[in-house]
Amino acid sequence: MAGLIGIRGLALTFTRDGTRTKVLEGLDLDIASGEFLAIVGASGVGKSTLLRVIADLVRPSEGTVTVSPPSRDAAPTPWCSRMRGCCPGGASSTTLPSASKS
Ligand SMILES: Nc1ncnc2c1ncn2[C@@H]1O[C@H](COP(=O)(O)OP(=O)(O)OP(=O)(O)O)[C@@H](O)[C@H]1O
Ligand SMILES: [Mg+2]
Repeated sequence: MAGLIGIRGLALTFTRDGTRTKVLEGLDLDIASGEFLAIVGASGVGKSTLLRVIADLVRPSEGTVTVSPPSRDAAPTPWCSRMRGCCPGGASSTTLPSASKS
């Protein structure tokens, strides 16, 4: 199967109230087109955060996420695409949350 999503060296640290929380670190992952993948782990390990980064809703501290082909119609979350300038709830916006960097 052709590669669809490629993740290299992904890291993300949140900073809230002066407290740094390292959620993702050194993550490499390839997801093929048509592949069924389950992301499992204890509560708080960063599963949802990883999906938000893949959906381009949260900016990683380090690393890259490549989605191929980068066309609008092939977006993994067409209902909420940064390129389309939309967000959940139907409100139009180009402002998306980003991780705090230090
Ligand atoms: N916007 C944010 N600001 C600061 N910390 C955050 C933010 N979002 C998530 N976190 C923290 O990042 C860590 C991972 O959260 P995440 O929601 O990705 O976990 P999860 O694996 O999806 O958990 P669950 O199984 O409970 O859904 C948690 O410690 C959480 O408190
Ligand atoms: Mg979650």
